[in-house]
Amino acid sequence: MPRIKQVVAETVRDWCARECPVTVYSESKKLTFRIAVSVLLGSLPSKEELTNLFTVFEQLTQNLFSLPVDVPGSGYRKGVQARDKLHEYFEKPIEDMLQSSPEYSTALGILIKSSQEQGMKIGMQELKGFQIPKGWSVMYSIRDTHDTAPLFQHPETFNPDRFAEDQMKGKDARFQYLPFGGGVRRCLGKELAKLTLKILAIELATISHWELGTKTFPKMLMVPVVHPANELKVQFSAQLCNKNGIAEVSLE
Ligand code: HEM
Repeated sequence: MPRIKQVVAETVRDWCARECPVTVYSESKKLTFRIAVSVLLGSLPSKEELTNLFTVFEQLTQNLFSLPVDVPGSGYRKGVQARDKLHEYFEKPIEDMLQSSPEYSTALGILIKSSQEQGMKIGMQELKGFQIPKGWSVMYSIRDTHDTAPLFQHPETFNPDRFAEDQMKGKDARFQYLPFGGGVRRCLGKELAKLTLKILAIELATISHWELGTKTFPKMLMVPVVHPANELKVQFSAQLCNKNGIAEVSLE
């Protein structure tokens, strides 16, 4: 948690120091990437290296939903090349960790150590995972599932509380509420994502003021994933004293 807090606080301070509105959508992707690298490996590469890595990561995510046409210049080829570059970069520190006796202080260290303690030998193949056989294509839409699930009525009404824990109690939401997927392939970063969002909310509320940088809210686009059209521009400024006492919010 201190590692996440440090990266989030540094980022929010940087947003506050900028004179122009921040493009929050792409900046949040950068922040998530920095946190993932820091939590996984325990340290951050140089600023320049991190920027290069993020460019490759963006190439991967931009081509995640592309037709499987493996020809030069195709989205699929670009995505595979980006994936291979990321594998190449992260393989060395991961190999080093597998050879040594890792600490419990990084996500990868915890994974390797606890598998060793349970008598399982974890290697590169296990960490890379398995692939769906060639020619297969599997896809489901989480947004459509939430929109059509009988558990959630009036999907067009703004009511985030419909997903609140107390409203879900006693209802079998297993196949109706799946923001992080489900089963053995459910999101590996679920707890990290939730913790990061809580820390970000606290940092935003305690050390910054913000207002929308445009006259109206941006239109939301749904394909390939839900995202704001033309970014989400927000003007941040520093808040020197914490008037609302949100810092005492518990992260449990
Ligand atoms: C709000 C943020 C996030 C959401 C909504 C989300 C959602 C998802 C969903 C729906 C899946 C597919 C699960 C399935 O196939 O059943 C997934 C997979 C995955 N997510 Fe996330 N995720 C988030 C953040 C993260 C973060 C921060 C990380 C890592 C640092 C991460 C790592 C992964 C991985 C590695 C998988 C693949 C798991 C596997 O195939 O075994 N996610 N995520």
